Amino acid sequence: MYILGISCYFHDASAALLKDGVIVAAAEEERFTRKKHDTSFPLNSIRYCLEHEGIKINDVKYVGFYEKPLIKFERILSQHVDNFPFSFKTFISSMPLWIKEKLTLTNKVHKTLGYRGDVLFIEHHLAHAASTFLVSPFEKSAILTVDGVGEWTTTAYGIGDKNKICLMKDIIFPHSLGLLYSTITAYLGFSVNNSEYKVMGLSPYGNMNKETNAYYPKLMKVIDLKEDGSYKLNMEYFVYDHADKMPSGKLCNLLDGPVRKSDEELTQRHKDIAAALQLIFEEALFKALNHIYKETACENIVIAGGSGLNSVANGKILTNTPFKKIWIQPNSSDGGTSIGVASFIYHSILGNPRNFVMKDAYLGPSFSDEEIKKFLDNNSIKYSEFKDNKELLKKTAKLIYENNVIGWFQGRMEWGPRALGSRSILSNPCALNMQEILNLKVKHREKFRPFAPVVCEDDASKYFECDTPIPAPTDFMLMVYPIKKQWRGKIPAVTHVDGSGRLQTIRRNQNPLYYNLIKEFGKLSKIPILINTSFNIRGEPIVCTPYDAYKCMMGTGIDCLVMGKYLIKREDNPGDFWDSEKYAND
Ligand SMILES: [Fe+2]
Repeated sequence: MYILGISCYFHDASAALLKDGVIVAAAEEERFTRKKHDTSFPLNSIRYCLEHEGIKINDVKYVGFYEKPLIKFERILSQHVDNFPFSFKTFISSMPLWIKEKLTLTNKVHKTLGYRGDVLFIEHHLAHAASTFLVSPFEKSAILTVDGVGEWTTTAYGIGDKNKICLMKDIIFPHSLGLLYSTITAYLGFSVNNSEYKVMGLSPYGNMNKETNAYYPKLMKVIDLKEDGSYKLNMEYFVYDHADKMPSGKLCNLLDGPVRKSDEELTQRHKDIAAALQLIFEEALFKALNHIYKETACENIVIAGGSGLNSVANGKILTNTPFKKIWIQPNSSDGGTSIGVASFIYHSILGNPRNFVMKDAYLGPSFSDEEIKKFLDNNSIKYSEFKDNKELLKKTAKLIYENNVIGWFQGRMEWGPRALGSRSILSNPCALNMQEILNLKVKHREKFRPFAPVVCEDDASKYFECDTPIPAPTDFMLMVYPIKKQWRGKIPAVTHVDGSGRLQTIRRNQNPLYYNLIKEFGKLSKIPILINTSFNIRGEPIVCTPYDAYKCMMGTGIDCLVMGKYLIKREDNPGDFWDSEKYAND
C-alpha cells in the first residue's frame, strides 16, 4: 500500500511516499524549482516520489495533508476580526491564496494530479509528532513539538506508544516560543523562517551569562515563563498577530534601538540580544522537558517542529533533563510533516504495526554513473574517471589534504536542511585559512558562522565531549557539542567561538563511501575529520542534479567535483558561467 504525504503553502513544501510503512522517497520542492524554501504545491517532489517507485498517482491509496486548512482558516479569520482595522491590509493580501488553493486542496490534488482517491487532513502538530515518533527507534516515548504555529497550536506534548500518538496538552497562538525566536531573528535583521539558525550561531559571541547579560532580564519581560515550561507572551511587544512584520515599537524600545537593517554592522548589543534569546529558549525548553518527563514517566524523548533544529539547545538536553535517549526528525520543521502525515495514516489511522526506523536521511533522487557521464559528455565537460572506489577515495582524500575545496556529489540526496554526505562541500578543517577561503570563495556567508565538522561515529568521543552512547540525532547534525580543548586549535575552521562544533557523526553502514573518505583523509592528516558544508551558495537550495552541481562549482571557488566515479576540475573547464555573487543573499 502506498501513501503520499504532502506539506505546502506555508514554508518548505515537500512530498514523501510510504510503501507498506516504509519511507521509500521524500524530497523538498525547493530542490527541484531551485527556489529556497519554496512553498508551492510540491508537484516536482510528488513526481519524483512516484517515478522512484515506478508507480502512477492512482496506485496511491491515500494522499495526506499536513494540516487542517479549515481550522487554520478559522484562526486566521479570528485573528483579523480581533485586530480590525489594523489587520485589514494583511487580510486582503492573504485571502486570494486561501480561496484559490488552500481551502480547496482536495480539488487541487484531484485536478493537478488526476488523483481519484481520498485526501486526508491531519492536525499540524500531530503531523510533526508523527514525523518524529513513528520513524524513531523507540516503541514508547514522550513527544514534544515546538514550532511557530500550526492551526492554533504552537507547542504540544504527549506520548507515543507503538502505533498510537496522544498529544496531552498544548499552548496556542499567539503565544509561541517559535514566533518569539523568529521575532528576535527579524529584529536582528535576519530573514524569518530561514535564518533563525544564524541567531543561534551568533549567540556565543554575546554574553551567555544570564546574571550579567543586560538583555536577559529585558527579554524576560516579554515572556511569562512558568516552572512547568508553559508560557505566555506579552503581546504588547509583538505585532505578528495582525501585521506582516513581527517586533512592535515597544520591543524596539525595550531592546534599545530600531530593527537592524540586514547590511548594518552586528554590534555587541545585537550579539547579547541573540545570547539572551538563546538562554531563554533553552530555559523554556528544559523546564518543559523536565515537566514532560514527570507527566509521561518515559525515559525516551522525541522532538519535532522548527525549534527542533536548535542544535545548540539539543546538545544540552540529556544533561539538563532526566531523559536517557533522544530522537529528532532530521527535517524537523514543516518540510518533515509530509513524512509525519503519511506515517500517521498508515500506522495510527489504519492501525498497522510500525516496521521502519529512519536510520539515515538519504531519501532523495540519485543519478547513476551512466547518467552523470551522459550529462558531462553532452555538455563537453572535461573530466577523468576513477578506476575504482579505492582510487576515488585515495585521490579525493589527497585533494582535500592539499587544501582543495571539493564538491561531493554521491548517491541519494539528503532529506532536510543539512547536507550529510551526498550533496556536500568537503574540505580540510586543519588548514588555518579554510574558513576564510570557504566563506569568501564559495559560501559568501557571514564571517561569524563557523563550518560543521563530520567525524566517523567511532572517532567522535576522541574529539568531542558528546553524550555517550552518541545519540542518533548527531548523525543528522542536530546536536552541538564542545570540541575537546586539546583539539580546538588543530581544527580551527570547525571550532566555534565558544569551542563548540555542530558535528555530524557518520556510521559505516549509513554511507560507506563517505565514511571511508573521512578515514582515508585521517591517514594523511592524522585527524579523521572533514569540513562538511552544504553544496550550495548562500541563498540557493542544496544542489540536486549533476547540472546544479556543475553550475555551482563553476560559479564559485570549488576546485573539483567528485560526482559518481568522475572527477571534474574547474581549471580544466571554461571560465565561470554563473555569477554566484549575484545570488548570495537571503
Ligand atoms: Fe510547523
